[in-house]
Amino acid sequence: TLRFHRPVCICPFTMCLQCLPILSAVYNTYLKYHFVSAFWKEVADDFFWKKPATGPMLQYNFDVTIGNIYVKCMEGAKTNMCYNVLDRLVRERNLGEKVAYYWEGNSPDHHMAITYSQLLSQVCRCANVLKKMDRVSIYLPMIPELVYTMLACARIGAVHSIVVIHTVFIIYGVYRGEKLINLKQIADEALEKCREIASSSVTKCLIVKHHALRTKSGAACNKLQTPWDSECDVWWEEVMRDSPEECEPEWLDAEDPLFILYTSGSTGKPKGVLHTVAGYLLYTSLTFKYVFDHHHDDVYWCTADIGWITGHSYITYGPLANGATSVLFEGIPVHPHVGRFWEIIEKYKVTKFYTAPTAIRLLMKYGREPLQKYDLSSLRILGTVGEPINPEAWQWYHEAVGKGRCPVVDTFWQTETVKHSYLTLNPHLIFQTFPFFGVEPTILNEHGEELEGEAEGYLVFRRPWPGIMRTVYRNHERFENSYFKKFPGFYVTGDGCRRDKDGYYWITGRTDDMLNVSGHLMSTAEVEAALTEHPAVAEAAVVSRPHKVKGECLYCFVSLKDSREFTHTLVEELKRLVREKIGPIATPDFIQNAPALPKTRSGKIMRRILRQIARNEKDLGDLSTLADPKVVEELFSQRCEAA
Ligand code: WTA
Repeated sequence: TLRFHRPVCICPFTMCLQCLPILSAVYNTYLKYHFVSAFWKEVADDFFWKKPATGPMLQYNFDVTIGNIYVKCMEGAKTNMCYNVLDRLVRERNLGEKVAYYWEGNSPDHHMAITYSQLLSQVCRCANVLKKMDRVSIYLPMIPELVYTMLACARIGAVHSIVVIHTVFIIYGVYRGEKLINLKQIADEALEKCREIASSSVTKCLIVKHHALRTKSGAACNKLQTPWDSECDVWWEEVMRDSPEECEPEWLDAEDPLFILYTSGSTGKPKGVLHTVAGYLLYTSLTFKYVFDHHHDDVYWCTADIGWITGHSYITYGPLANGATSVLFEGIPVHPHVGRFWEIIEKYKVTKFYTAPTAIRLLMKYGREPLQKYDLSSLRILGTVGEPINPEAWQWYHEAVGKGRCPVVDTFWQTETVKHSYLTLNPHLIFQTFPFFGVEPTILNEHGEELEGEAEGYLVFRRPWPGIMRTVYRNHERFENSYFKKFPGFYVTGDGCRRDKDGYYWITGRTDDMLNVSGHLMSTAEVEAALTEHPAVAEAAVVSRPHKVKGECLYCFVSLKDSREFTHTLVEELKRLVREKIGPIATPDFIQNAPALPKTRSGKIMRRILRQIARNEKDLGDLSTLADPKVVEELFSQRCEAA
């Protein structure tokens, strides 16, 4: 086995040399990058800088007791993300004719290939359209126009925020599996609310007609029967047609913001995670290149949604920065049949495949038969992200999908860290082992003391890397409080971690009150807030319960207001409410009546106990802080067995 006792400062002499032949070239690169102090500079040399940096490659303070937390990368440099991922490749690398994306629609009949030069021309047209707008918000499914708009924003220096509403909206109805979803109507309703709540004025909505409908003279548009506001609504196709193909990129400062992505905060209010231009460029490109061992003839496919950080980093920016060919898939794994993923792998001869444990668990349910119909021999590397992968799912992924010959890279990371912090480079191991270049993890106990050897505790990072988040949008204090206050001097991930006797790291899950459902992180507070909006609910507490497919699911305890009755109709109403407020992913699997909730004397709900009730764990341990222990018995007697 590979020994990896000191991941912080990697000294080759602490490792068992047996492992070297397995890791070969990748391992040598790994060591080289960890040891060469000037390696950021080397990475940056691959890209175009309108003006070189005047400051060091990386400056930071990670200690709140010294002063404000900050991270800066290549201060003084000027560049443009879009130029680096498109113009540079088309003009300097001659990759214009190379396919950037194979778009595969919800229906297997809808597909197209987009080359780098076609992508550049669409992005420039779109950028010229957007230049006339104030702020841009994107609400699009996984269609090429989503990538065009993101890159167009990057080109003109507009900070893109996908799904958050501002002045421009870009929408359309779409099929998800069999279901026609009226995105325009959903967006119209959201805009109406914006107008009511804030004086936010959405001046223009660009509406994309789905690729599939362009050939059917808008048949489904009629089916949707969405009202058209001629003051605000404009067809995308019309504005794009008249838009020029040339668009000079805006040269931005290295530390200018690139995008904001909202992630759950433990208080329930989402945090706008802000990433900046240069650091994000260096990191997404580098991680993509090494984690997936990118080669020019690869066809890479990441099944994530672009609205998630995984899609931002590993469908849009990372692969493009490397001139990769990717599959952009609009549909779902089980439509029109449960072998859809495998069919697509065969169709495009996918070599690198990146998905989430929840998708693997879903497809495992259908056994190996759907896989046997397709030729998966093109596959070389499999990746997973989003939540801890259980051994059963790993085994199936490795054997049924990878036929035992493809390494599985398990990538642990966060919206905040934007990159793979840990990854498995060894094809025979199922857990995260090496920290990526520049990442210095350690494990702390409750008192902030570093733990050596075999240990379990809080996973923290000792120093930043270029692609780490810079702040919480408009709330730097929240950024410092959330990630740096608990253990001064460290970035606190919020995840637990175990180091085993061989020195391997295992991510054990969230240490705070977060839930991870099908790889989507959400806070209990968010769901509780939605439940308590119902007039019958006095109080709610939400915990996770293990779920075969989703990893974790939501188990909700609701205390009703006096005189309200706990009925089946109420349960259905509550589920609908959560769906509406947060999204289908947050739909509770269990809702239990809780005449009272277990609380400390200071009134804090003890979620630990609720979690144990949800899981039917009878040994509750220390209950001394509980105000009224009788509550627990009552909750146990009423717990839900089945959904
Ligand atoms: C969890 C997702 C174990 C973790 C890219 C983290 C994982 C949170 C893994 C971030 C993994 C993600 N193994 N846990 N490979 N990948 N997580 O911001 O709890 O949506 O803190 O980013 O997901 O979720 P986020």
